[in-house]
Amino acid sequence: MAKISNAEKQRLSADYGAWAVVTGATSGIGLELAERLAEAGLDLVLNARRKEALAQLSVRLQSKYGIKTLVVAADLSESTGVAQLIEATRDLDVGLLVASAGFGTSGYFIKSDLPAEINMLRVNCEAVLHLVHHFSQVFKKRNRSGIILMSSIVAFQGVPYSAHYSATKAYIQSLAEALAYELKAYNIDVLAPSPGPVEGGFAQRANMNMSAAMKPSDIGVPILNALGRQSSVVPGALSKLLVYSLRTVPRWAKVRIMTLVMRGMTAHQL
Ligand SMILES: NC(=O)c1ccc[n+]([C@@H]2O[C@H](COP(=O)([O-])OP(=O)(O)OC[C@H]3O[C@@H](n4cnc5c(N)ncnc54)[C@H](OP(=O)(O)O)[C@@H]3O)[C@@H](O)[C@H]2O)c1
Repeated sequence: MAKISNAEKQRLSADYGAWAVVTGATSGIGLELAERLAEAGLDLVLNARRKEALAQLSVRLQSKYGIKTLVVAADLSESTGVAQLIEATRDLDVGLLVASAGFGTSGYFIKSDLPAEINMLRVNCEAVLHLVHHFSQVFKKRNRSGIILMSSIVAFQGVPYSAHYSATKAYIQSLAEALAYELKAYNIDVLAPSPGPVEGGFAQRANMNMSAAMKPSDIGVPILNALGRQSSVVPGALSKLLVYSLRTVPRWAKVRIMTLVMRGMTAHQL
């Protein structure tokens, strides 16, 4: 597990405090980023759907790190949930958005449940669009601020047997890359982390078997260290191995390789 240095804690709190909004804070990568930001002294708006899990996290982070927290239990697949989160932050000095809420689906696209796919599109893309649009207006009035949008190694080519999920991550990767350039004029640092498999609730909800997966604690600090220094990061050794070994491979061949990888992860249901 990588440790966050004191210099990094100071940088994060000075550049992106006082408050950070973290979606997907109850599990996996969002939970890890919330914990590391709390350790750096940022106050946190914690969002996910599960109210009780958020309340427990809020109490723990307050007592462990002495920070302030605000819990917003809201479903980001609904526009009212997104509006509720935005409304709750109106009077806070927010300097960082971490959009980690998201989930995957897998299996044959032709057999997929369309309402479930639309729900994923709303959480993974539409809610992110709303939040980034809102917070970029807020952030342009600040000296410095940041936006972290969770991409994935699946964002860089089509991935059969997880076709729609990988398409939502391609959307995020593309949006983040372009905004990292455009929003630089306002000192808004945009970062797209693209991890490989990570433990947490993701695999179960996506119905994937991840035989090798990193721990969220392997990637939290590398993601935060990259914020403000680069526009994308491949965090953790396993992610680097997967992405860099495919770097020189033509896109059609990447699709074939990812077909084999995803077939292995979804064999139980194909
Ligand atoms: N895990 C991986 O292998 C992996 C790899 C690359 C990229 N990513 C991306 O990283 C992000 C985080 O994934 P993770 O691994 O941390 O997954 P996770 O452990 O399943 O956590 C997902 C988080 O999102 C929240 N969430 C789910 N649906 C929501 C909704 N409708 N409204 C509000 N919150 C919702 C969940 O909380 P509630 O259940 O309480 O709502 C939970 O806090 C996702 O965007 C994912 O695509 C994951």
